[in-house]
Parts: sequence; structure tokens; C-alpha cells
Amino acid sequence: MSQSPSIPRHIAIVMDGNGRWAKNQGKPRSAGHQAGSDALKRTVEAVGRRGIDTLTVYAFSSENWHRPSVEVKHLLELFLNALNRDVAELDQNNVALRFIGHRMAFNAAIRDGMRRAEAKTLNNDGLCLNVAVNYGGHAEITHAVRQLAQEITQGVLRPEQVTEQAIEEKLYTQGLPAPDLLIRTGGEKRLSNFLLWQMAYTELHFTDTLWPDFGAEDLDAALADFSCRQRRFGTLPQVENA
Ligand code: FPP
Repeated sequence: MSQSPSIPRHIAIVMDGNGRWAKNQGKPRSAGHQAGSDALKRTVEAVGRRGIDTLTVYAFSSENWHRPSVEVKHLLELFLNALNRDVAELDQNNVALRFIGHRMAFNAAIRDGMRRAEAKTLNNDGLCLNVAVNYGGHAEITHAVRQLAQEITQGVLRPEQVTEQAIEEKLYTQGLPAPDLLIRTGGEKRLSNFLLWQMAYTELHFTDTLWPDFGAEDLDAALADFSCRQRRFGTLPQVENA
């Protein structure tokens, strides 16, 4: 299998650089996260307009709890505000929202907001927007494997039935295609525990743009980069394969 894709079906984004953006502006980190939230809204619209099916964004990692409590509190407030304010508009724009991650760590108001947002937008067939919150790739795989182990203990699954597909069906992203393209802003070149299983064959695009500055031109640059990639999924190019 070798493809020269023109447009990705699924884009994942590590939205990095809010803190540095704020520092550059002489503002508190909270202002960077607020500007990051605005950039996310713009990006959702731009991605939807380009006919991409699925967007998965890393909003809060399981490691982010270790940031100063004032920053964690601000991020949680931003998240709750977005749940209260932005879901109606996303729904009008036919966006289907889904949250991936370990949600029991959040307070009842946020958990309820996530549940209501998912229920309200469940039947929308436009952009599928996955927001990773309290998400960690290792934790996700561990959670999936533990569920399968429990099924074996209960006698409803045999060890040889622990296949790649069986694991995929237990991941938070169950039913979604793997990301075709990862965009990471902010200049760092790493995955940071994001979608580790799902990104086995994802094309990676790194940009120095800080997340709050990310706009349609950056998105189009990432899409242009993607369109030049030859995806081989571990095989040889078609001509050598013949
Ligand atoms: C990384 O920048 C960004 C985050 C940890 C938070 C991402 C959050 C948003 C974009 C806000 C909007 C989200 C929702 C769901 C409303 P950083 O703080 O690590 O930046 P730095 O590397 O420059 O310090």
C-alpha cells in the first residue's frame, strides 16, 4: 500500500507555545491559554471548511496537573467556559464533539458539561472534533489492556483473541480512523505521550509558530507539506513493489 494523499482525513494537533506567546507579549501565562483557546476556535472552523473529517486536539495532558495550581485552575475554568459558551455554536456548525481521556479526574460540573456536549452533538455529521483532556497515551493503552485482561479472567475472551483490533476497540478513539497528519506548534519535535498507538504511520509536521499565532496559512502550509509525502505504511514505493 503506497499513497500520495492530497488531503488528510484526520488531523491531530499538539497545541504548544501558549506560555511562550504570553511571555513574548509581557502577559501572564493565562493570557496565552486564552489566546490559545481563540486559536482553537479559528482552527476548528478552518479545518471544517477544508473538508477534513476529524480533528483531535491535545488540550490537557495527564501530566498538566503538575503545573502550578493557579495555571491548572485557569485551564479548567477555560475548559468549563468553553463547554458552557461554545458548544451551541459548534452544534449549529454540525460539529460532533467527543472527549478522550480519563474524565473521572474532573469535577462534576466539567464531567456533566462534557456529557451534555457529546449528547447534544451526537448526531451531527460534520467535523468530528475530539478534545483530549487528562489524556496520556501510555494510560490509554494500559486501560485498554487491563479491560482485555479482565475479560480473560472472566472467561469471556481467550488470550489468542487479544489482537491489534481488539486493543483498538478498547481505546478512547474506538471507531475513528488513525490520524493521517500530526501538527505540533511551538518548535518542539516530540509526541509528548499523545495518541501513541494511533500514530504508528502518521505523517509529522512541526512548526515554530506558537499556538496562539496559528492560523489558516499555517494550516495550509501543513496541508501542502502533507500532500508531498509518500505514505508507504511499511511497504516499498509502488514502482519498486511491482
Ligand atoms: C501548551 O502550551 C498548551 C496547553 C498545555 C494547553 C492547551 C490549551 C488550550 C489551547 C486552551 C484551549 C482549550 C480548551 C479545551 C478550551 P504551553 O503552556 O506548554 O506553552 P509553553 O511551552 O510555551 O510554555
